[in-house]
Amino acid sequence: MKKRIAIFISGRGSNMEAIIGQTRNGILRNSCEIILVFSNDPQAKGLETARRAGIETAAIPSRGKPRAAFDREVLELLRPYELDYIVLAGYMRLLSPEFVHAWEKRIINIHPADTRAFQGVGGYAWAFEQGLEKTRVTVHYIDEGMDTGEIIEQRELDLRDLKTLEAVERRGLALEHAMYSEVLKKIFET
Ligand code: GRF
Repeated sequence: MKKRIAIFISGRGSNMEAIIGQTRNGILRNSCEIILVFSNDPQAKGLETARRAGIETAAIPSRGKPRAAFDREVLELLRPYELDYIVLAGYMRLLSPEFVHAWEKRIINIHPADTRAFQGVGGYAWAFEQGLEKTRVTVHYIDEGMDTGEIIEQRELDLRDLKTLEAVERRGLALEHAMYSEVLKKIFET
């Protein structure tokens, strides 16, 4: 049975787009169906990309709302869709404990660093500014903390020949786009 998933985004949605591509003709075609793309920002660029791909979208603005109240609205919104997993792809909000407990081990995120070394926004800038020779990209489950959930898989990113942050981001995103669908496939098929 294909897993029913929602993808949560806050912005550009390039990881979402890569996953959409893999569900169409690629490695996820037998593993999952994208039922919904949700954003906490109605202006998120990725929403338009999802719509153009014919995927249902929903947005609830989170700005100015207390975390618990906002997350309760999102939980209500999701209920009728009978989803199996939530895939975060650049979703820039910490989830409330109530939300996390309702979806224990069923919310997955990709983080542009080793979550044991760096948490929060700006993983590529952190690696670049430290002058690291290599960094890691992490796919992990979500828990109540900021990028503290159980690690599912990590892959290394070689930074030695890269001179600018833009180049680091470009190589990092290319790795993310390939890696995320491969890891999701393993999760959805076990
Ligand atoms: C990615 O680097 C992802 O690892 C991080 O946020 C960024 C989202 O990019 N969580 P996009 O919206 O998927 O293009």
